[in-house]
Amino acid sequence: MITCSAPGKVYLFGEHAVVYGESAICCAVELRTKVSVEKSDDMIIESVLGRTGLDHEIHPYVSHAIEKMSQLADIQGIRIVIESELPVGSGLGSSAAVTVAIIQALNHLYKCGLSLEDIAKTGHEIERMVQGNASPTDTYVSTMGGVVMIPQRKKLDLINCPIVVGNTHKFSSTKELVSNVSKLRSDFPSIIEPILSNIGRMSIVAEELVAKGDYETIGQLMNVNQGLLDAIGVGSSELSTLVYAARNSGAISAKITGAGGGGCMVALARENNAEGIAKAIENAGGEAIITKNTEEGVRLESFHG
Ligand code: PMV
Repeated sequence: MITCSAPGKVYLFGEHAVVYGESAICCAVELRTKVSVEKSDDMIIESVLGRTGLDHEIHPYVSHAIEKMSQLADIQGIRIVIESELPVGSGLGSSAAVTVAIIQALNHLYKCGLSLEDIAKTGHEIERMVQGNASPTDTYVSTMGGVVMIPQRKKLDLINCPIVVGNTHKFSSTKELVSNVSKLRSDFPSIIEPILSNIGRMSIVAEELVAKGDYETIGQLMNVNQGLLDAIGVGSSELSTLVYAARNSGAISAKITGAGGGGCMVALARENNAEGIAKAIENAGGEAIITKNTEEGVRLESFHG
């Protein structure tokens, strides 16, 4: 049996703008999805979503990944067990993490010889098959780990402060939010395009701040980014409640991460106040997770037999 894991991610800057070719900065977080794979007589996929065979409704990412990897290896029966620390469908990149982890597990089991670049690329193809128009961000950062600037695919220095995620538990559809922004942009190009390009410019300015470890200034810009996300209509009262709870309890910064509407927000914390911020988020009705940036992307956890 082979077990591989891959991390989720938060956006420091640039969600939505990245869809239009602007820059974004994403940070892999130490919340992982673990996938164990062994050869078997049948095709079995087990997760919190249920126990199925190849099933594009219940396990679309894993099923597409098996089909894709079957082009490289003679995959007959396999048993796959998925365990995740990442809440599903909340903007933390759970689908990219499971996709990347399964590709790497099959890559090891069948000795396909895929490089990390190949894994990120294959993962992106699978996300596109399932979601339609996905950006390469999630699969790239989940494969490579660390802090990544997209679309440049450039690795930046690690973010060395605690990260607090707040989950609103409100469902949000990335597809729908991306399409709302697209409509707003075509209705008011002269207003919305500059907002998207200003969001993109924040990542360019922040690159040097990340290198200096200047989290206070990074945080200032993240708060500006939050204002612009609200301006393009991807905020919600639930997200704002958690954002202000985090800021009022001393967070360096707090903003939406991912598509918005619902899902999660992210706060940067100081060394001594992550717990307090987490409590404030919980008191405001969210679920808080304290985490940190991880250097490691997809990794082999164990290999038996
Ligand atoms: O909610 P998530 O983590 O799937 O992020 C969506 C990010 C967008 O920029 C809105 C869309 C994309 O594909 O980059």
